[in-house]
Amino acid sequence: MSEKLLAVRDLSVSFATEGGLLSAVDRVCLDLAAGEVLAIVGESGAGKSVTAQTIIGLTRSPNARIEGSVRLHGAELLDASEADLQKVRGKQIAMVFQDPMTSLNPVYRVGDQIVEAIRAHREGMGNAEARGLAVEMLSAVGIPEPQRRVDDYPHQFSGGMRQRVMIAMALESSVLIADEPTTALDVTIQAQILDLLGRLNRERGLATILIAHDLGVVARIADRVLVMYAGRVVEEGTLDEIFYDPQHPYTWGLLGSLTRLDRPRPHRLPQIPGTPPSLLSLPRGCAFRPRCPHAFGRCTEPPGLEARLPDVPGHRDRCWLSPEQKRELRQVEGRIGLEEPAA
Ligand SMILES: Nc1ncnc2c1ncn2[C@@H]1O[C@H](COP(=O)(O)OP(=O)(O)O)[C@@H](O)[C@H]1O
Ligand code: SF4
Ligand SMILES: [Mg+2]
Repeated sequence: MSEKLLAVRDLSVSFATEGGLLSAVDRVCLDLAAGEVLAIVGESGAGKSVTAQTIIGLTRSPNARIEGSVRLHGAELLDASEADLQKVRGKQIAMVFQDPMTSLNPVYRVGDQIVEAIRAHREGMGNAEARGLAVEMLSAVGIPEPQRRVDDYPHQFSGGMRQRVMIAMALESSVLIADEPTTALDVTIQAQILDLLGRLNRERGLATILIAHDLGVVARIADRVLVMYAGRVVEEGTLDEIFYDPQHPYTWGLLGSLTRLDRPRPHRLPQIPGTPPSLLSLPRGCAFRPRCPHAFGRCTEPPGLEARLPDVPGHRDRCWLSPEQKRELRQVEGRIGLEEPAA
């Protein structure tokens, strides 16, 4: 077993809002080792970003209640001082967001911003040396002519190239959290950025959390997948387990709504019907129950996240159906999906 760089245990985040207490993240656990890509997938509002932001201390506020444990290299981050967190961010954990323009300062040259980030964590490093390193980093993320591009401003880069710059700035860290890094990019560029993340992960042993709302995006590079729904992990497993033996109807829905080029989507496989529940008042029992065509009596009791298949301890889900029922119900016209609810 490789050593875990990051260990998150029972992380819960709720916010006091005008409408009441909003439970955004509910007892999420995850482990991340060097050289591993962990994907977190789920529809908008599932708690993916709040999970990621809480790991690096960005959700702290008077109206936030945060519980659980986040250990990086064995050190607890949840009760770390703001000063200690500053040292961790950018040096040990870096985050890449959907829109790199929000993280890059438009009035400074890209190279100067990278140099500043490098020098913030390397006492005694001179400007020239840091600049050399910045050029190396731009080259490592596949930016052509890095010697020249280092003096350009952010607006002189395309969306995909800006995202590469953000990834370059993350190369100093051992953990990279990429929150929907390709959502704003067109498909070809999207694939290039994912391949870059995959390559850096392998070559540099970077531990990566890749957040996406689409399972198709993570299929390219993920080792393990957490499927989140309404603030909870509803299924987790290896990429193969999630794709070829998915246990939770919500995962079937995500898989069924993937666009496939080889054959058209069957008539009985619509997008997942309905919308996620309000996090202010979750349905009793299984949170997916109001949208689940397979709900039955027991679903008013909350299912735990458990290994329900014999001999596969790492594959866990929150659904009461038996493994046999799941195998049968997830097949819709010859592929995996969530069947349209009966009218
Ligand atoms: N600071 C905050 N105060 C109150 N609610 C918040 C705050 N940040 C996020 N939320 C809520 O938490 C839920 C989860 O959000 P988020 O993690 O951003 O979802 P995702 O990234 O999966 O789309 C959403 O309902 C969102 O509105
Ligand atoms: S526990 Fe019940 S409602 Fe929830 S996903 Fe399984 S069958 Fe559907
Ligand atoms: Mg998000």
